[in-house]
Amino acid sequence: MRKKVIAGNWKMNMLPNEAIACIEELAPAVKDTKNEVILCVPYTDLFYALLAAQGTNIKIGAQNMHFEEKGAYTGEVSGQMLKSIGVEYVIIGHSERRQYFAETDETVNKKIKSALANELKPIVCVGETLEQRESGKAEEIFTTQTRKALEGVSPEDAKKIIIAYEPIWAIGTGKTATSEDANNSVKAIRGELTKLYGNSVAEEITIQYGGSVKSSNAKELFTTSDIDGGLVGGASLKADEFAKIVNFDK
Ligand code: 13P
Repeated sequence: MRKKVIAGNWKMNMLPNEAIACIEELAPAVKDTKNEVILCVPYTDLFYALLAAQGTNIKIGAQNMHFEEKGAYTGEVSGQMLKSIGVEYVIIGHSERRQYFAETDETVNKKIKSALANELKPIVCVGETLEQRESGKAEEIFTTQTRKALEGVSPEDAKKIIIAYEPIWAIGTGKTATSEDANNSVKAIRGELTKLYGNSVAEEITIQYGGSVKSSNAKELFTTSDIDGGLVGGASLKADEFAKIVNFDK
């Protein structure tokens, strides 16, 4: 049985004092869940968030990393650096990074390999635009993104990866994919993973849904056959709302 994994993506929000307050409110509210709880926070919050989350079941992740270990890459942060302070997860290839920061399938692949080499667990985002969906290309887009992201990744390493299916038209828009639609897309991604790694590996890989997840739709989405939890943007900024999402099964 795959565990449900609920991750918050704070994006470019939350100053350290807000981050600490949020985690202090969230921790007691999620302490009894059997679901995995992750917060992916801005670089400037990482250290504070790690301290605030100490002794709790909340895991901390970053939202991006560079694929090189070190060197002349002004403004970048490497996987080795994240690992060195105790970060466990890192979002890779979020659509906002693909759209605004020229992230490509190739850099996504390099970042995944570097994350794995540094024992970080990548949360790899894939998903189609509205235009791609309307022209009937959605499945081709997100299965291709998945295949290219995982090129050269061993089956053992693939099991450590979380894939987040985030249709771009559902991000921050209040529009959620129907649970049936989202589950079908996630199934198609698992089908691609089966082609790449075989059924037993594919069945072990966590695939989340992301895009306007909130407490009112979390249960319907997360109790489908293939969706293993969510990557939550806006609704993860409020501890009480995020706690309700984490506790969707209570
Ligand atoms: P929203 O939940 O705000 O739609 O954002 C989704 C997302 O991009 C998470 O990575």
